[in-house]
Amino acid sequence: MTDNDNPRFKGGIPDYLIRHTTFRQMQIFEAIVRLGSFTRAAEELFLTQPTVSSQIKKLTNVMGLPLLDQSGRSIKPTDAGNDLYQAIRKIFDCLSDLDTRLAGLKGLQRGRLRLAVVTTAKYFTPEILGDFCREHPAVDVTLKVTNRDEMIDRIQNNEDDLYILGQLPSKLRHLEAHRFAPNPLIVMAPKGHPLCKEANISIERLAKELFVFRELGSGIRDAAMKAFSEHGIVPNVRMELGSNEAIKHAVVGGLGLTISSLHTLTLEGASGPIAMLDVQGFPIQRKWYIVHPKGKELSLIAKRFLEFAMASEPVISARMQSLLKDLSACKKPAPAKRTMQIL
Ligand code: PGA
Repeated sequence: MTDNDNPRFKGGIPDYLIRHTTFRQMQIFEAIVRLGSFTRAAEELFLTQPTVSSQIKKLTNVMGLPLLDQSGRSIKPTDAGNDLYQAIRKIFDCLSDLDTRLAGLKGLQRGRLRLAVVTTAKYFTPEILGDFCREHPAVDVTLKVTNRDEMIDRIQNNEDDLYILGQLPSKLRHLEAHRFAPNPLIVMAPKGHPLCKEANISIERLAKELFVFRELGSGIRDAAMKAFSEHGIVPNVRMELGSNEAIKHAVVGGLGLTISSLHTLTLEGASGPIAMLDVQGFPIQRKWYIVHPKGKELSLIAKRFLEFAMASEPVISARMQSLLKDLSACKKPAPAKRTMQIL
């Protein structure tokens, strides 16, 4: 029997699904699987819990198989639920593309931009977004800030339009990457630390200090560990913290030194409580990348944002250069005062 002879199908389309399910039910199901919780899905969609539960019950009846597996507090999709989730994501991606195409036909006036950036890119992305939104006030923007490991999952699941990260993931082959602004990594110490007076510090000397590093999965942490491992050294990590700002406070509090992105000092500049140490091989010169899966048709808004961000590159580069100059100048001992001899 072909789909056309099957009474459950009309014109090759599963009629029973069209008649008995709704986009709203699919949206609720998608949110529950993505967030792993009925409560959070209800909050995100501004619905009550009983509404969420009853819609899922109806959806389950139509599908004819259990969709969610609830053991204790964790909710996971069953095999059938997982298949449904993948299908819903495709349907919603199509609708989203349709929405952006329509927005394009209306002249980029409306539409959605979904951006995901690694934790440290939050020091410059909001500024670019601010300028972009001033030019396109009706564009609806979502910005997800996450660490590198989670970002790789998001790229694999095609969750966003564009991604900004500090290193191209070797396990993802099919990416189109646009090299963007510099992302120098420097060694930071509290001002007044004895090493601030020293020049050309060796990695071996640096390794005698205690360090505060980012969590596993962070791109900066990977790069910092690599800088030590290239010299066969394992640094002494006193503490791991998931936030660049918390790390800066820990450094100022004397808990250890850190290796971090120069971008994290953008607001306070060289006048803050953190100094840059003069260590061999530093700054580590890295770049940011704006990426998307190869072959993915970018929405007009995403294309516009990409051009817009690339055009802001010279401003960010110049800012990094002048910050490096200011921090290096802070380290140099003040020129000795000349004493005038009166004869
Ligand atoms: P992170 O990544 O914020 O996850 O450390 C930044 C980077 O790779 O430079």
